[in-house]
Amino acid sequence: ALDQPYQHLGTLEFHRPHVSAEFGRALQAISSRSKPYFPLTVPYVGGREIDRGAKEVSINPAHPGDVVSEVINATSELVDEAVSAAMAALSDWSRTPIERRAGYLMEAARWMHDRRKEIAALEVLEAGKPWKEADADVVEAIDFCNYYAHEMVRLGKGVGLLSPKGEHNDMFYRPKGVAAVIGPWNFPLAIPTGMTVAALVAGNTVVLKPAEQTPATAKVLVDAFRAVGLPDGVLNFLPGPGEEVGAHLVRHKDVAVVAFTGSRSVGLEIIETASKWQKGQVHIKKVIAELGGKDAIIVDSDADLDQVVPGVIYSAFGFSGQKCSACSRLIVLRSSAEQVISRVIGAMDTLLVGDPQRPETDMGPLIDYASQQRLKYYSDMAQSQGEVATAKLAIPDEGYYVLPSVALELPKESPVLTEEIFGPLLAVEIAEDLEEAVWLANSTDYALTAGLFSRSPQNIEFIKNELLAGNIYINRHITGAVPGRHPFGGFKMSGIGSKSGGPDYLFQFLDPYVISENT
Ligand code: SER
Repeated sequence: ALDQPYQHLGTLEFHRPHVSAEFGRALQAISSRSKPYFPLTVPYVGGREIDRGAKEVSINPAHPGDVVSEVINATSELVDEAVSAAMAALSDWSRTPIERRAGYLMEAARWMHDRRKEIAALEVLEAGKPWKEADADVVEAIDFCNYYAHEMVRLGKGVGLLSPKGEHNDMFYRPKGVAAVIGPWNFPLAIPTGMTVAALVAGNTVVLKPAEQTPATAKVLVDAFRAVGLPDGVLNFLPGPGEEVGAHLVRHKDVAVVAFTGSRSVGLEIIETASKWQKGQVHIKKVIAELGGKDAIIVDSDADLDQVVPGVIYSAFGFSGQKCSACSRLIVLRSSAEQVISRVIGAMDTLLVGDPQRPETDMGPLIDYASQQRLKYYSDMAQSQGEVATAKLAIPDEGYYVLPSVALELPKESPVLTEEIFGPLLAVEIAEDLEEAVWLANSTDYALTAGLFSRSPQNIEFIKNELLAGNIYINRHITGAVPGRHPFGGFKMSGIGSKSGGPDYLFQFLDPYVISENT
């Protein structure tokens, strides 16, 4: 409830047999349906489902022949209709009292909570997420709703200003207008939800374009808000190709704010497009862009290897390394390098790589064929420039699987050390001392997450001051930020905009204004 403080929802305790059995049943219930499991995902504009248009499919990356959902693609004309619907709904929605708007978020969160296993099961099938990762994504979506609901109530109280005798001053916030939200596939519910509900609770109306790979999962958010009676036109949904639907949406003169999470190249294109004034446009578009990372973990010579090994393995290979927060560089000091590297390589062999429908799977497939090819490209490059140790494991014949690997002995300028690969390839670098380790960690274009394992308080202090990253984690894994606890986001080429799940995030969807009244 809004009068209680925000609280993070716990993840499912899969080690408990009844929890695991229930999840298995939810997954079974969907996967035993005739295919497509979710017959049709359609655009939703102004409160209407649009069930005509060109059809696409979303597939199960573990079994690419299995269609998860047929999808009707939106078109440029439908973008125009969706923005018009969002404009039409803006006046009433922006005047809806904040508590009411926040109430919709809390109710949508409740709706998702009641169906958390079914939603996570859909993610297992559409995104190839292992159970734990799928559940964490649903939890994060629910957390975003609850957190931003509370945040907006806080901001709605206004900011007291200096008011000398005879003058009263106050600062308030008003919504920017229509928000375009463009989401990724790797957190297919949580990230679109975070951006969407932040915009909504701040009083904006939204046109949401989900990633092409995971439209059925993103549609759950729309279903949640429909179920709790969000007025028509406040949230519109447009599955479709980025080049047509996303690009047209960003260009639209009536879009006031664009919230994007995804690749660096698309992010930069969005920033460029949004900066061009269109005829009839009456605002400067604000872009919030959360882009990539090339995130490092530094292992100090006195680190506890029993902590380091699981921390690094999970950070690098959890969800097959397909997180912008994933560890893609391991920086070890020469004095302990041999031991650390051999233990990390040994631990790779204990991972269970296979169909994420199975409860014991640690690493499922990559999202699509293009990703599998990209990993092959970087792995071949690492092999030709240095050495690659690949896990000695079998992988299924079908599905976009790639084995976890560690790349060693790379030249400093290798793209394997500098470019975001977005998969289970961890590059190792050796530093002579901690100063050099920090220098290496900081010497990429990105500044998203970073970590240190150390038992020396002095070294920990040094790192806290010197490491350049939006989220620095000490003696733990470097993924899995929790809204309200680990506000998430980076700087340098990792993005612009303030941290999701943090106290500054909603400001990006709001314009402040001041009222000064002589009394
Ligand atoms: N928020 C995610 C994490 O922390 C990445 O987007 O892993």
